[in-house]
Amino acid sequence: MHTSHSTYQMKISELGYLLHIYYGSRIDDEDLSGLLTHYDRGFSPNPNVAGRDRTVSLDVMPQEFSSAGVGDFRVSSIEAENGDLSRAFEGKYTGHWIYEGKYSLPDLPGLRVRENDRTDTLEAELKDPVSGLTVTLCYCVFENLDVITRTVRVRNGGTEPVRLTRIMSVTMDWLESDFDFIHFDGRHTMEREFHRDPLISGQQTIGSIRGTSSHQHNPFVILCGKDAGEEHGECYGFSFVYSGNFQCTVEKDQFDQTRLVMGIHPDRFSWKLEPGESFFAPEVILAYTDRGLTKLSHMYHDIFRTNISSNIYRNKKRPVLLNSWEAAYFDFRHETLVDMARHGAELGADLFVLDDGWFGDRNNDFCALGDWKENPEKLPRGLKGLAEDINELGLDFGVWVEPEMVSENSRLYREHPDWTLQIPGRPAARGRYQLVLDLSREEVQNYIVDFMDEMLSSANIAYVKWDMNRSISEVWSGGGNQGAVFHRYVLGLYRVLERIENAHPEVLFEGCSGGGGRFDPGMLYYHPQIWCSDNTDAINRLKIQYGTSFGYPVCTMGAHVSVCPNHQTKRAVPLGTRGIVAMSGTFGYELDPGKLTAREKEECRALTETYRTYSSLIDQGDYYRLESPYSGKGFTAWAFVSRDRREALVNVVITDKEPNGAQRYLKLRGLREDLRYHVERYDICRSGAALMRAGLPVDLGLGEYEGMQFAVTAVR
Ligand code: DGJ
Repeated sequence: MHTSHSTYQMKISELGYLLHIYYGSRIDDEDLSGLLTHYDRGFSPNPNVAGRDRTVSLDVMPQEFSSAGVGDFRVSSIEAENGDLSRAFEGKYTGHWIYEGKYSLPDLPGLRVRENDRTDTLEAELKDPVSGLTVTLCYCVFENLDVITRTVRVRNGGTEPVRLTRIMSVTMDWLESDFDFIHFDGRHTMEREFHRDPLISGQQTIGSIRGTSSHQHNPFVILCGKDAGEEHGECYGFSFVYSGNFQCTVEKDQFDQTRLVMGIHPDRFSWKLEPGESFFAPEVILAYTDRGLTKLSHMYHDIFRTNISSNIYRNKKRPVLLNSWEAAYFDFRHETLVDMARHGAELGADLFVLDDGWFGDRNNDFCALGDWKENPEKLPRGLKGLAEDINELGLDFGVWVEPEMVSENSRLYREHPDWTLQIPGRPAARGRYQLVLDLSREEVQNYIVDFMDEMLSSANIAYVKWDMNRSISEVWSGGGNQGAVFHRYVLGLYRVLERIENAHPEVLFEGCSGGGGRFDPGMLYYHPQIWCSDNTDAINRLKIQYGTSFGYPVCTMGAHVSVCPNHQTKRAVPLGTRGIVAMSGTFGYELDPGKLTAREKEECRALTETYRTYSSLIDQGDYYRLESPYSGKGFTAWAFVSRDRREALVNVVITDKEPNGAQRYLKLRGLREDLRYHVERYDICRSGAALMRAGLPVDLGLGEYEGMQFAVTAVR
């Protein structure tokens, strides 16, 4: 398989095993199978069909999909309990097909094929000769986008039911292990921090069993050469298009080879396949480059800008929004909201978003989730009347919902206590005092679609923030196979989102799970933007947005200017810096603009203006990480560079200040060496070569948390 810059090679061995040979820089028309060597390796068993040949072992050979229980002791791709209760699977090649276009993946999100994309699919079938279980490995080559998507389909081709307890969507074997493992881990209000670890002998695993992809680990990882940096080196990306439990394991084996697997987390997973039934594993998007981490990020930025969401806003300028949450929390009335919006209009906002607290008795987070009817004391004219008044001011109107949840103190719970995920006889843990609705059930899915439909039809609502505020525990649904419930929940959620968004294609949806607890490509398939974190502190956001930028473009990251002292950290940061950081995302405000001083208002107006001036460059330009927030140099910097490389917007924030400190230099990237550029703040003209190789001195006069933003424009 070839993408524009990569080649992927596999081979069917003489004994019928599908061996992996190569994934890396493009090499045309060469059979690379000579890379595979064969030696007798002690304690690595030889398949029975190898007869007296002791040089063949599944424990050593690189494979496209590993066997289980038949002599490969590395992390496995599959585990299934067969009809005879054995857990063995030995995939022998039985056929392959190549066709134009992309494989189908029913009920699951995946990278979309757009007009002008050149795509071909390879399907390779492996069958266990004893159980009849058949695994079809699907590879879709997006030649022009330079990525390959993969998935696995499992079919019970035997005569007895099979219980699938582990199925990895991707297995990737390398013949060596000179790699670092990059992953993005964190916690609520501090998501996706960058971690880079050398591979160790044995296994390194990240994942989630919280029912969502989680704040703690993101389903995007990179394996890169030890010498790889932003500008150079080999990098492999793996992005899992799934919003539920996941696992990614990297193993360095006894011969310094590497295996990576990624898929649905096997803990608490089991899926029964009756004879003839199939299971579709979610998709993984693979990208490879030998040109460093920036190039790898740009590949993911490009595909997630164009090929994941179908929402009309994916190609449209996103509205500058004013969100009511940190401005008012639960404490508001129709008039206060309209007032807020009036002042928001003065800041240049396009959209006013009413966050939590507008329905039932929701004056705190103890109650009312599920009662999606306006609170008449707060909103006597309902959402409709509020939307009308907001629209009068020239702003669009948007609203917050948390449809997957229910409070015990709500009408919905009193009427349908059985609609929640709870284990009979075991009082359920509460998260934010709330329980989780059982989205695996059709009547629950219908209830959500119906109330959303009713709400969206009742008022002029242009935007929805879809929140989800707890990890899922006590997973149990109706009798039957409980190991299927987590996955059925995710499938139910996708079904609900598909139905709602098809019925209301004009609405902009923003995903959210206590900020960035479900920031994954599965959700981006439905929501073109996701609230990046509940932490709006601009200095913390530097790390959060830096980590997020490795796998996701800035047009997917919700980012707002909030007040100081910041509500999460109590830190005070200059308004200008808060603006610079928020405009490296889908820009907005989360404060009461009526409480700003005249000067602050003026400054916010200017920030909105600046954002509008540069929004195309920010959304469509290439994003460059110039100085990492972890570098220890006391500043963080990044830039947006236009595709023709004639224009850039550079951003710098001082994160740590010492008196009489070292002079630091900022080296730009992405410019053309041969062009001359005018550098706005410095008012100088320099060649791209000078700006990128020699750099610019960072102004020592800037105080802690101050920032600077300046344009760099080609003059010839
Ligand atoms: C968590 C979200 O991330 C916040 O932005 C806000 O919407 C609250 N939920 C409301 O309860």
